[in-house]
Amino acid sequence: MELVVGITGASGAVLGVKFVEKALDLGFKVNLVVSEWGEKTLKAEASMSSRDIKGVKNFDNSDLMAPFSSGSYPFDAMVVIPCSMNTLSMIAGGISNDLITRTASVALKEGRKLVLVVRETPLSLIHIENMARVSRAGGIILPPVMAFYHKPKTVEDMINYVIGKVFDQLGVDSKLYRRWGGG
Ligand SMILES: Cc1cc2nc3c(=O)[nH]c(=O)nc-3n(C[C@H](O)[C@H](O)[C@H](O)COP(=O)(O)O)c2cc1C
Repeated sequence: MELVVGITGASGAVLGVKFVEKALDLGFKVNLVVSEWGEKTLKAEASMSSRDIKGVKNFDNSDLMAPFSSGSYPFDAMVVIPCSMNTLSMIAGGISNDLITRTASVALKEGRKLVLVVRETPLSLIHIENMARVSRAGGIILPPVMAFYHKPKTVEDMINYVIGKVFDQLGVDSKLYRRWGGG
């Protein structure tokens, strides 16, 4: 399975890094695009840059010549993790003037899986309406919301829960969290 992964400038850059690492472990091919503010949050929160993420093919967010900028290129799914409200609003508005928003637009028009790990709190009505718009167009809105039924003990357990939920959307059992098996 070939993925396009976008990391944008919302808090939680580590979610993107851990997601990519696990996707590579699971045998996915990963094309990585990090926005300018994604790079800045990676540096501020994880003291790293996109070049430190090994095993992926890196693309510049300004590179609209990238293969998956076209619907004719058969990537399987796109995950934007984390997804800023700025990128969400551009996707919801049909704007596609960089590689992340263009690929999201391609995923929606081609009926391919698009998962947005949107992060902001609290949410304004504008954010909520943008999420509704993307959802109606076929995108999956998957905020990094905590759960406790899997009995997390560490921050890593909580990160794995969110990432595991993304893999669930891709139809892959990553075994990253313990599922609810009944009371
Ligand atoms: C440290 C830091 C954390 C941020 N966290 C968020 C956030 O959680 N959600 C959000 O929507 N924007 C957040 N922002 C603001 C975005 O980075 C900003 O809106 C930017 O324009 C997003 O650009 P992009 O969508 O191209 O990555 C944060 C910015 C910084 C510097």
